[in-house]
Formats: sequence, structure tokens, C-alpha cells
Amino acid sequence: MRWTTETRYRMLLEINNAVVTRTNREDLFQALAKELRKHFAFDRMAINLYDAKSQSISYFAAADGVQPGGGLTRHSRPLADGAIARMVVQSRQPIIIDDLRRYTDLSSIGAMVEAGLNATMAFPMLVRSRILGSIHFSFRSAPEHISELTEVLTDVSRQVAIAVDNMMAYTELEKLNKNLEREKDFLLQSSDDYQQDEFFYTSAAMAGIMKTIQQAADTDATVLITGETGTGKDYLAHCIHNLSVRRSHLFVKTNCPALASSLFESELFGHAKGAFTGASDKRLGRFELAHGGTIFLDEIAELPISLQAKLLHILQDGQFERVGDSRPVQIDCRVIAATNKDLQEGIRAGTFREDLFYRLNIVSIHVPPLRERKEDIPLLMKQLTLIQAREMNRPEPIYSNRAIECLCGYPWPGNVRELKNLVKRLVILRAGDRISADDVEKILESARPQGQRVSDELASLRDSERQHIIKALAKTRGVLGGKRGAAQLLGLPRSTIQYRIKKLNIKPENYLSRFSSSKT
Ligand SMILES: Nc1ncnc2c1ncn2[C@@H]1O[C@H](COP(=O)(O)OP(=O)(O)O)[C@@H](O)[C@H]1O
Ligand SMILES: [Mg+2]
Repeated sequence: MRWTTETRYRMLLEINNAVVTRTNREDLFQALAKELRKHFAFDRMAINLYDAKSQSISYFAAADGVQPGGGLTRHSRPLADGAIARMVVQSRQPIIIDDLRRYTDLSSIGAMVEAGLNATMAFPMLVRSRILGSIHFSFRSAPEHISELTEVLTDVSRQVAIAVDNMMAYTELEKLNKNLEREKDFLLQSSDDYQQDEFFYTSAAMAGIMKTIQQAADTDATVLITGETGTGKDYLAHCIHNLSVRRSHLFVKTNCPALASSLFESELFGHAKGAFTGASDKRLGRFELAHGGTIFLDEIAELPISLQAKLLHILQDGQFERVGDSRPVQIDCRVIAATNKDLQEGIRAGTFREDLFYRLNIVSIHVPPLRERKEDIPLLMKQLTLIQAREMNRPEPIYSNRAIECLCGYPWPGNVRELKNLVKRLVILRAGDRISADDVEKILESARPQGQRVSDELASLRDSERQHIIKALAKTRGVLGGKRGAAQLLGLPRSTIQYRIKKLNIKPENYLSRFSSSKT
């Protein structure tokens, strides 16, 4: 008997001590080979990892000792190519061959014999009845006491299997962590535009909205924010998150139309490894990323109808399934949705689920366009100019009262976003200048988008303003000022009316005479 119970036990303990602290494969493998050599001589040692899904094997680390067929690759190869490994993996039993020359018709064994290896002992690596791969010892000539050695190495291979399993779990975790860190960085960066103290309003409408937000923030109620583009929906969603107890977790924004529809589901819900071509790793979806925090679904009207059902399911049960994985994932996140579309219209057209609408619309916030809260415009101009000038380190442009009036009369189809861009342009091009109403008109004219729709809208707005003033003038018989003047009738300062009359090319006397003599 070469190995007493005691020496076996000590050997296992020493192997264990040598490998537990290793954090990479090569280190672990080298430590193991060195430890085993103290107890018996072998000419080659190799560990194969088995991947059940692809039915392939790959080396765990560079093999130790003799290399049959030249070097060895780290690429995975079909299980069939490793004749002995295949036998071990399939039978889950040790394979002991004391004379390999009898099996040279198998190509991998032929290569071993050519390299001078004539005997081999291969063991399965099993952890909790899961097969991880195989461990191989090869010899130039068959070792002595082969049946006793088989017993010992069966114990050793159990130990090695645990070490290898731990190592794989460790690297998998590390990779997952790295992915998470990367996604977290990305998400934190992407919310840079949010500056907590840079939101301005004086209108009663916006004050009401801010009050609603404060009341709703600390509940987990779903919020639906509607309003034209550029009215501040993103900002308000952020604001809700930051006022809530969820603020230390992530605010995960997802732009519904920006994602290709085939990837949308896995982007939102994640996928299991191998769920589809290219899914080489398990991936967390945005819902899981938002766990504990808030998920913001922007432009919700564009969510494909098939995913609307899944979203409804999450909202109702707080759970969902990853793509390619049927186990439900429990989730705790607040949902905020936003859209510039009319969802009621979507419901009528059959592109939006009514039940989802009601489930989202627990707290509903409608942000009015800037032209319906004109009193915010002077304040926004002033404050945003201040901020921009400071940021660009330039003197502020100064606006005349007329210039501000003119800005208040503009319909702002792009709302605050458009106003902010105008301010940026002014700070760059007209730093420190006095800005007149004429300047403003010119700038608005040149900045106007080429789109037909917007210019049509503006044309008709101009037209109706013109008609409005003409009617007032006709009523007052061309009188502008005083108690019975057009200015009083329209509720505007006389100077503004004069300015608009000139701008819109209205001749008061003409309209007066036409109105009193003949109807047009
Ligand atoms: N009341 C406001 N005060 C200051 N900045 C605002 C205000 N409303 C909107 N903004 C700014 O206008 C831009 C557009 O707002 P955003 O929230 O993205 O609009 P939406 O999501 O409705 O299109 C952002 O840069 C935002 O900071
Ligand atoms: Mg937005």
C-alpha cells in the first residue's frame, strides 16, 4: 500500500490549500500540477472543460508536460475530437488505458502515442452531479499500482472539480460586475442634462404641476406625463425620482422608439445566455437595472403592442420573465411614462391598449406648451441667459422690453428646448449686445425649421393675429389709444399694438374706410 488513509488525507488537504487562493486559471492549474508531482510522477496533465449546450470541450489552462501534436489551442473543439474526454464525459466514469497503442485508430490517441505517451488515466470532474469536464494524466509507461492510484485520483478529481467550479463562478461574477459597472456609468452619464436647481416658472399652471409632483413623489404611484416636445417632461420625471425615497438607486431612461423592435424585448427585460443568436452572455434588462429605483419609459406611445401586454403584466404583478428563460424575476421599480402623443387617439386607433393607459395614468401630469403660459417666457429668457453666459464666460446680451414682448408673442413649437437653443445662439453671437425686437424677429426667422408644417402654423398664426387687430381697429374706427381704443380692447399696451401694426403691415385708415363703406 503506497498511500495510507492518513497520507491520502494530507495530500487532499495540501492540494486544497494550494489551490483555494488562486484567482486565475493558469495559477490554479500550475499550483495543482506542482502539488500532485510531489506524490506521483506523470508526463502530462490536462483539464478539459465541457460545454453541454454546444457539445464541445476546451482546455481549462495550458496543459502541463508533453504536448501531443505540437502546441495546444484554447479554442473549443467538438466533443467528438477528444476521444477519451468524450468517453469520460458521457460515462461519468474514470477511463484508464494502460496501453494506448491498441487504440491508435482514434486520431487523438494516435497523436499521444506519437508524442511518446503510452498510458492515460482520465477522470470526470463532477460537482453536485453536474459534469464540468475531465482531468487527464498521461504517462510514457503505465504507472505502478494503477488501481490504487485510480482510487486516489478519483478523490483528487472531486477536489479539483470544486476548485474549478469556484474559479468559473468567480470569473463569471467578475464579468457580470464589470458589465453592471459599465451600464451604471453609462446611465449616470446619460442623465447629465438634469440640473436640479435650473428649472424656472412663475405660471400658476407650472406651480400646480410642481405641487402634484411633490405629493406624488413619495408614493410608488405610476405617473404619466404628457405634453409637447421640449416642455420639460424628462426634467419632471427626473425630479419625481429625486424627490422620492428611491433617489439613491438608478433612474433608468428608456427611449421607446430608439430601440430596434427585435432587440426591444431583451433590452427591457434582459435575456438568458443563448436565448438567441448573438446572446453569448446573460444580460440584465433595464427593468432589473432599475430595481429599487425608477424606470422612465419615454415616448410610450411608440411601444409595440405586443410589449404593452408584457408591461401591463409587470405593472400588475411586479414580475416578468427574461427572454429565453421561463423563471419569473421579481422586480421593485417605479414606472414613469411620457409621451407627446394623444394616447386616447392611440386607443381609438387600436395602437395603444386601453387597460395599459388606465394602469399608467394613476397620476397624470399634463405640461402645457410655452405659448399657453407666456408669463414663464421672460423669466426663462432671463435665467437661462444668465446660466449660459456664465457657462460660456461671456457677457450677457441685454433684451429690450419690446424684444421680450416679441418673444412672448412667438408660438414656440419647440417649447423650452427651442428657447434654450435661441438663448445659446444669442450668448454666442451677441454677447453683451442690446437685443431689439427687430433682432429677435430676424433671429426667429432664420432659426425657423425648414419643415412645412411649422411654417404653415406660423403663417396661420400671423394671419389670425392680423385679422384680430383689423377687427379691433374696425370696431374702434382706427383709434388706438384711450378708453375706446383698440389697445384697450385687445388688452395690450399701445406701443405693442403700434409695433404689431407696423410689423404686420396693417393700414388702420384703409380698414376703417373699407369697413364703413363696403364689406369685404
Ligand atoms: N421650466 C424650465 N426651466 C428650465 N429649463 C427647462 C424648463 N423646461 C424645460 N427645460 C429644458 O428644456 C430642455 C427640454 O426639456 P425636456 O425635459 O427634455 O423636454 P421633453 O422631455 O418634454 O421634450 C431641457 O434642456 C430642459 O432642461
Ligand atoms: Mg423628452
